[in-house]
Amino acid sequence: MDYRISGDRLSLIVARAADGALHLTWFGRQSDEAMRSSARFQRLPASPDQPVGPVLMPEHGAGFHGIPQVEGQGAGTGRRTRLSSPQAEVVENRLIVRARDIESGLSVTSEFRFDGDALFVATSLENNGDEALVLVRAASAVLPAPDWADSVLTHSGAWGREGHEQRRRWPSGRVEQLGRGGRPGFDGGPTLTVCEARARVSQGRMLTAHLAWSGPFRLAAERASDGSGQILAERLFAPGECRLDPGQSLQLPEVVWALSDCGQNGLSDVFHSYVRRYSRLLKRPVHLNTWEARYFDVDEAGCIALAQDAASIGAERFVLDDGWFRGRRDDTSSLGDWQVDSGQFPRGLGPLIRAVHAAGMSFGLWVEPEMVSPDSDLYRAHPDWVLGAGDGVMPTGRNQLVLDLSRPDVRAYLYDQLAALLDAHPITYLKWDCNRDLYPATQDGVDRSGEQTRGLYTLLDRVRKNYPVEIESCASGGGRIDAGIARRVDRFWASDATDAVDRLRIQRAAGLVMPPERLGAHIGPGLNPMTGRQVPMAFRGLAALFCHLGIEADPGDFTAEDRAVLARVIALYKGHRDWLASGRLLQLTEAAEDPDAAMMVSQDGHQALVRVMRIATPDRPLQKRIQLAGLDDDSHYRVTEIALVGDPMLWPLGEMPGGGLVREGLAMDPGKALSGRIFHLERAD
Ligand code: DGJ
Repeated sequence: MDYRISGDRLSLIVARAADGALHLTWFGRQSDEAMRSSARFQRLPASPDQPVGPVLMPEHGAGFHGIPQVEGQGAGTGRRTRLSSPQAEVVENRLIVRARDIESGLSVTSEFRFDGDALFVATSLENNGDEALVLVRAASAVLPAPDWADSVLTHSGAWGREGHEQRRRWPSGRVEQLGRGGRPGFDGGPTLTVCEARARVSQGRMLTAHLAWSGPFRLAAERASDGSGQILAERLFAPGECRLDPGQSLQLPEVVWALSDCGQNGLSDVFHSYVRRYSRLLKRPVHLNTWEARYFDVDEAGCIALAQDAASIGAERFVLDDGWFRGRRDDTSSLGDWQVDSGQFPRGLGPLIRAVHAAGMSFGLWVEPEMVSPDSDLYRAHPDWVLGAGDGVMPTGRNQLVLDLSRPDVRAYLYDQLAALLDAHPITYLKWDCNRDLYPATQDGVDRSGEQTRGLYTLLDRVRKNYPVEIESCASGGGRIDAGIARRVDRFWASDATDAVDRLRIQRAAGLVMPPERLGAHIGPGLNPMTGRQVPMAFRGLAALFCHLGIEADPGDFTAEDRAVLARVIALYKGHRDWLASGRLLQLTEAAEDPDAAMMVSQDGHQALVRVMRIATPDRPLQKRIQLAGLDDDSHYRVTEIALVGDPMLWPLGEMPGGGLVREGLAMDPGKALSGRIFHLERAD
């Protein structure tokens, strides 16, 4: 018997084999379903007489040596859990798979459903027995790996260096993407992709698993020497953390799967439309964020001058970053004391906010609610509120400790602090930072990292429910970008790196799952403080253009020429941001290729922007054409180059056929290092 569910173009079919096991026989295009495999495995030499393939909810006892979805034991008896006879049913285009361990009373239910062509798997556990169960693994999903998958793509990084693609051959063995820090981290977060060898940005088959979870996680691809393989996505539990008392149940984070037969661009199509379905419709105003302009040196007069200057070149939202609250002069103190500093803002935030409004901007504020400084009134009053307090082990990170968000009283306190700020001031935006990992993540010896994440979600949900404030997720830059928190925030600060060259890589990596309008991209100073690289303004502006634009510098430090270029970039962004926010992002060149080329195509297909960024001096003066993508083969497009420097600003290049632009490409002039070009395409027929 077959169990089938369908998405827009894809379908998934599970079939029951003679031995009762459930086989995933199809996950692919509906039109190709006839190509599905059979629910039977070949018996191989030196293997069990009853062949055990990578089925759904596999168990070790039967001779299967891959990754079981759930593993555990009775807390008292030590008896190992053993799931058997998974049942399947389809209810309203949702596939529900249930397996039970008759002895212990454990039951595991996985629900598969499509949202567009994103495949969701949500799994829950329930202990219906009379003994507590301690699980060492409770994975959200384990799916058989496609046989064409012969490499694994993940990302690696560090603070300010996010987004390095890592592609490894995967003939056999295990490749993991692991996050133990309690926030997804700089290593690319909870995402793992398996690919066929020929897969590139716009061709070949790829399958990505993304865990919608901001706490510890593991994704793994494992292939046995017989060629069978699995892909696992799980919330990572610490020893003893996953305990189910009799009657208790547990909902695991959802896994979102994207399958593409047209490379990474196809994966992004699936993820972007999924994230956008849960996005609020926003204008995405141009930001001026004070951090790299002022660091901790913020005061009323300086901020008013900064805001007025930023507004004069087109900024629309002023975000007051770190340094505004009681006693905060550097990063050694005051987190937790969320009252306005009377030294720097003697009249409160009112005069600054009024000046910001008078300049035509809205006002946003930086907070880091999960954290507390040992040198703070909050910590002096509640030393027991931090993780590790009960164990007496409290190593600091960036001089700060982590509040235990699993405690309702701690969450209530933080909510009240935030509510007081939001009630007292017209704050439309919070930059919600998180500047350290969880270590230890325990309280009284018991691991709390999962509860910490749930506590954060509860707090964010409460703030969002009661205030119409936009929220940005920041974690020392891009340390917390995932689909779990994406349901609760509107924007991500993709990295503390504002060097535009590095940013191209970082935004490309984050943009695999997150649509570009969700990624904050700010234009920094010419001489980048992190890398020491001097990057021209036009390049800096173009690198940020497809994302949510902002400024991370004092515009007063820019030359008159740079201010003129910046004003053009801002005008260009404002002219196109509405369609960009629902447009299709298409990478045109591979990661680390030079030039780096990408384009956005509007949802209705009427217009597009093509960006070509030359990073190093070209090795040859005559440049290759850049082949475009996502255009209508039979339509013609009016192509105009937009100059950010000099006059005229618009250079019409004529009408060109869509098919020709895709197959032959757009001709390029000899390029210089650190130069960028932008072209607008408008469908003519
Ligand atoms: C880390 C963030 O990534 C920065 O943008 C800035 O907000 C600092 N924290 C402030 O402490």
